[in-house]
Amino acid sequence: MRTVGLLGGGVIGGGWAARFLLNGIDVRLFDPDPEAERKVSEVLANARRATRRLMLAPQPEEGRLTFVAAPEEAAEGADFVQESAPEREELKRSLLAAADRAAAPGVVFASSTSGIRPTLLQADMARPERLCVGHPFNPVYLLPLVEVVGGDRTSAETCERAAAVYREIGMRPLVLRTEIDGFVADRLLEAMWREALWMVADGIATTEEIDDAMRFGAGLRFACMGSFLIYRIAGGEAGMRHFMAQFGPALQWPWSRLTDVPELTEELLDRLAAQSDEQAAGMSIRELERLRDDCLVAVLQGLRSRGYGAGEVVAEHERALLTRVHPTPATAIDESAPVVLHATVIPAEWTDYNGHLHESRYLQVLGDASDALFRYVGIDEAYLADAGNYFTVETHLRFRAELAAGDPVSVAIHVLAADEKRLHAWLELRRADGEVAATAEHMYLHVDAATRRSGPVRADVLANVRRLAGAHAELPRPAAAGATIGI
Ligand SMILES: NC(=O)c1ccc[n+]([C@@H]2O[C@H](COP(=O)([O-])OP(=O)(O)OC[C@H]3O[C@@H](n4cnc5c(N)ncnc54)[C@H](O)[C@@H]3O)[C@@H](O)[C@H]2O)c1
Repeated sequence: MRTVGLLGGGVIGGGWAARFLLNGIDVRLFDPDPEAERKVSEVLANARRATRRLMLAPQPEEGRLTFVAAPEEAAEGADFVQESAPEREELKRSLLAAADRAAAPGVVFASSTSGIRPTLLQADMARPERLCVGHPFNPVYLLPLVEVVGGDRTSAETCERAAAVYREIGMRPLVLRTEIDGFVADRLLEAMWREALWMVADGIATTEEIDDAMRFGAGLRFACMGSFLIYRIAGGEAGMRHFMAQFGPALQWPWSRLTDVPELTEELLDRLAAQSDEQAAGMSIRELERLRDDCLVAVLQGLRSRGYGAGEVVAEHERALLTRVHPTPATAIDESAPVVLHATVIPAEWTDYNGHLHESRYLQVLGDASDALFRYVGIDEAYLADAGNYFTVETHLRFRAELAAGDPVSVAIHVLAADEKRLHAWLELRRADGEVAATAEHMYLHVDAATRRSGPVRADVLANVRRLAGAHAELPRPAAAGATIGI
């Protein structure tokens, strides 16, 4: 997938633009609002900031963003079309029909609608079978979930292909079995929101107190496990049946006013607006968005460290990005100089109380460069599973210059020597101005995947390693290579 067409560039369309662009995909965007370009560029700036904080993998080269003057132009030449226009059925129907006429036959369309059934949205399309719903969550560039729903005339292949597109950009598609108003997630959210509005209307709690009731308690559990798994645990060893016996009868009383909606009187709307202003304490929407993003990044990184839930989606995407951006044996690289295979930008989270890069992170960047070297000499996923990998067995690290958050860095690798099992390399971590921020002398030892003991490298990888070592043998040996440490 190279190019996507986007219809609508508001809160959600801007978020889609950012997610696609930051995954290296070109975007053609149609939005009649003269302010659309400014708004999308602001969302994109926040998305770059958040994605850089979230992901340790180097980002692919950003896709190109083009604003176009008509929906047909957005769809022309696109490999996938995502519609995120205002939530009005007639508007969406005519927009989709117009773009449908311009798109190539095999192109899949998805609508971001929060609750309109796809059967209604596809009614005016010449190729209705290609439309499904792809309902995301704000901010689209951070939250992995996207609900995929087909209508009466949607083909099964359309939903599968939309899901594949979303997986490619690091999302977690949930393909729904049945088309229903509001789908799954918004039905849940609406139920909670309805209850929250009643409590404000009845003067039971303020907007802030209701938010506190979520964020200091159940909200934290939702991020990890949702509802059912958490309640299973709450049932103790007796499990779900016990839990239902204990709390099920309360559903009959009932505690909540779920089926009833408070009348949105001027008085209630004023109360909501005033309480919400007080809660925001003067922060602008963009400031609030950055605060929200930083908190989401923290939660996602926490879950990633457990390899669980939404965190595992991030980790999987990161692994895929690494294999996509690091050079392979097929990449043409000039080996007459130390090879630069890995580059990144220092995230703010990596700095310590001295305001510069924490020492462990130097090794992390150099370690990522080592992985890039192994990939370049032919160690791919199949090799890792069947044959093994190089492990670092000895390191001499020298810290030469400070690095700050936001500094772009790259690592140049000079292979000093190699044999059947060992690879001896000199690495330089360089700033953009060429200054060497750190050097590392590494000895890598090839370890067999099955025995977990040292063993010879496979012949094709060895040939690549020998070629690189041969080319680098012509280079002057770094003066500090082989140095010992002492006073
Ligand atoms: N905001 C959310 O949290 C959220 C979450 C998931 C899904 N959605 C859905 O995403 C869609 C967009 O919602 P939003 O929150 O981004 O709204 P929004 O008002 O922020 O953005 C809508 C954009 O569509 C543009 N637009 C108006 N007419 C258009 C046309 N004819 N063609 C193309 N663009 C047009 C507007 O100029 C605006 O920029 C809706 O269907 C909504 O239900 C919203």
